[in-house]
Amino acid sequence: MNTSRRDFLGSVAAVPFAAALSGLAPRTRPGRLLVLGGTRFLGPPIVRTAEALGYEVTLFNRGKSNPARFPKLEQLEGDRDTGNLESLRGRKWDAVIDTSGYAPKHVEQSCNLLKDSVGRYLFVSTVSVYTDQSAASVDESTPTGIITPEEFEAATTIKAAVANYGPMKAECDRIVERIFGARATVVRPGLIVGPDDSSDRFTYWPLRILRGGVALVPEDLQAEVQFVDVRDLGDFCVKLVQDQVGGIFNAVGFRGRVSFADLLSTCKLTLNTEATWESVSEAFLREHKVRPYTELPLWLPKGQRGHFAVEKAIAAGLSFRSVAETIVDTVAWHKTRPADTKLRAGLTPEREAELQKAWRSRSK
Ligand SMILES: NC(=O)c1ccc[n+]([C@@H]2O[C@H](COP(=O)([O-])OP(=O)(O)OC[C@H]3O[C@@H](n4cnc5c(N)ncnc54)[C@H](OP(=O)(O)O)[C@@H]3O)[C@@H](O)[C@H]2O)c1
Repeated sequence: MNTSRRDFLGSVAAVPFAAALSGLAPRTRPGRLLVLGGTRFLGPPIVRTAEALGYEVTLFNRGKSNPARFPKLEQLEGDRDTGNLESLRGRKWDAVIDTSGYAPKHVEQSCNLLKDSVGRYLFVSTVSVYTDQSAASVDESTPTGIITPEEFEAATTIKAAVANYGPMKAECDRIVERIFGARATVVRPGLIVGPDDSSDRFTYWPLRILRGGVALVPEDLQAEVQFVDVRDLGDFCVKLVQDQVGGIFNAVGFRGRVSFADLLSTCKLTLNTEATWESVSEAFLREHKVRPYTELPLWLPKGQRGHFAVEKAIAAGLSFRSVAETIVDTVAWHKTRPADTKLRAGLTPEREAELQKAWRSRSK
């Protein structure tokens, strides 16, 4: 049964156990949920979905990022960087969702502290854990990175761990599984996109197409693109907790393959612009030192592109809103940012114009 997200939330909020009749029926009554983090990007959609389903949500963080975002929720203060988890002691929750674990040491501390007081530990990991992300099908059994005992000890802060992001997250996954066993759930998202995404790696494309004119794009427009709307990911995390599903799940789009050309055309049609695009070769991009994925977002050179298998997550309930909805909402959110906001990814108009001039004059 293909129930839309709105139907899902509506039915569950209104008559919680009538939802048991639907394909997305939760298997447990909403209870108490702890979120380690919760106030930047992925946290808020998790919190909103959990609240809509009737969960009593507690947040744990330093109180620095958007502290007024959820004024009605219980907020416990602490700091993983200093090992201060005292406010979590002596409390019980049905589940915890950890969006702020990067350093294996931090995750070991929180797992040890919570193992007898929390039913399930859902850890938000990443597909960056895989040592080879260029395979035709990178599924959950693909080998993941490792760190040395010295690296484990040295990564005492989130900042230090992020410098070796993939292998550090992989070690976190192993720790959660070792300590929580069947009560561990590991979600590995790919690129997370949508409102509040401060990385701009997706936001660049709708805004570039909205600007009109001729956009510089890579040559292989049939290459696959995979990303996940932050709200679909938030729903999926809460669903796994509510259904008490353990195991590891890649969590990124889509049902079937979506190409770069599909994305560009969807931006153009959704935003109703006259933009066109012009492909430049990979050799040209390399020669002009255009940085893959950040300067030309979503583009990876041939040989580095793989496909993340998501069948397991889809079977467990990951669903995707339309890309058009993500595009519209991302542009609407961007318009709420200060007018002088500089995008953190993508080509500046000046750099794009220089590259296009060089591309068009290359054979003259
Ligand atoms: N963005 C992507 O494309 C992408 C892709 C794959 C996976 N992921 C994963 O998705 C997750 C996204 O996280 P998010 O930032 O959006 O989550 P979030 O829960 O919205 O925000 C991060 C939270 O962590 C808290 N925090 C930061 N430093 C802390 C510390 N030292 N001690 C305690 N709390 C701390 C922050 O609050 P305070 O600052 O107030 O402490 C904030 O509430 C990450 O696990 C990331 O690895 C992201």
